[in-house]
Amino acid sequence: MKFADRVDKVKPSFTLEMTSRAAELKHQGHNVVNFSAGQPDFNTPENIINAAKDAMDAGLTKYTPGSGMIELRSAVCEKVKRENELVISPDQVLVSNGEKQSLYLACQSLFQKGDEVIIFKPYWVSFPEFVTLSDATPVLIDTSSENNFEPEISQIEEVKNNNTKGIIINSPSNPTGAVWSQDKIIEILKIAEKNDWIVISDECYERLVFDGQNVISQKLADNNDIKANILTCMSMSKTYAMTGWRIGYAFGKVEIIKAMSKIQGQATSCANSIGQAASIEALIGSQEEVENMINIFKKRRDHMVKALNDLPEVSCSVPGGAFYAFPDFGYYMKKSFRGKTILNSFDLCDIFLNEGHVATIPGDGFGAPGYVRFSYAIDEKTIDDGIGRVKKIINDIK
Ligand SMILES: Cc1ncc(COP(=O)(O)O)c(C=O)c1O
Repeated sequence: MKFADRVDKVKPSFTLEMTSRAAELKHQGHNVVNFSAGQPDFNTPENIINAAKDAMDAGLTKYTPGSGMIELRSAVCEKVKRENELVISPDQVLVSNGEKQSLYLACQSLFQKGDEVIIFKPYWVSFPEFVTLSDATPVLIDTSSENNFEPEISQIEEVKNNNTKGIIINSPSNPTGAVWSQDKIIEILKIAEKNDWIVISDECYERLVFDGQNVISQKLADNNDIKANILTCMSMSKTYAMTGWRIGYAFGKVEIIKAMSKIQGQATSCANSIGQAASIEALIGSQEEVENMINIFKKRRDHMVKALNDLPEVSCSVPGGAFYAFPDFGYYMKKSFRGKTILNSFDLCDIFLNEGHVATIPGDGFGAPGYVRFSYAIDEKTIDDGIGRVKKIINDIK
């Protein structure tokens, strides 16, 4: 059968593939340590679950307005005022089936053939695919762990041209966990303002920041009188352990939200009504559980980073947020394990999985050769077990 060209153009999600291979091994009865999870290991807080039950009992089981229930869009405004100190109105908000859909719709609404969109490596795997699916071209810029995975402005100056239409930023980042400095974000916003680029700011991990207060891009822009056109995308998934509920949202200029809403209306009508009702409670109800999760993640982060840095020839910078550590295993590339040459981090992660039953995500897939992503959405005892297995394997690499 002949499929449309876009099916060939888009890459499958290799992070999902790794997770399903780990699940398969587990199903076969193996004791798998899973560092591949892109989601909190906690269950959704009880007050949120109860709000969903109440919503079903009250008959909130029907279509909602396409851009989201007004009560939820108002709750987003309340949250954004309380936590991010920004004043926005409900018509600036679009609720989607997860932030992933908001990001997809943003690219579909804003970019087209001939446009170029700047993305920073290591990138979350979906960014280049969203841009490609909009027929625009992703333009990738390298960063390094020595610089906290932040780009130099000169690198942006070098790649920009008349076709550059937008820039995607993600701090705290998946896969690195890096929280970019405010100065760097301000510099990027200024160059975007000057060149009239749209900034898509993926703030999905904004609450999961461990050292000091995080300030989102739109607030940094306002504080510094930068008029950059920013579309902020946020998610219920990570902050509230609600990945399966599939609710995320975006806010920005009304005209952009309207364009995204128009496409969403034809694609999915609206996001799940029960998830939307639960999200209201998440955003404006008790934040106690969130605080608990943040404290636990912070402890695990410190534990994980120490364990990784104790591995021979491995270095891991301290990630400021999210729940990922992103160590450099570059020393082991081109070396051999039981006669097989390790060409890249895909090969290394295969060995971790097949020989140690440890699931990790290869950095090569995020545009970061030699790096490996370890999620610490697992308890400290399991972290020790998994890192112990990794140590045994790398001791055998010659
Ligand atoms: C950087 C980043 N953006 C967006 C998302 C999508 O989140 P959601 O579950 O809201 O679709 C993820 C999920 O892994 C992510 O890591």
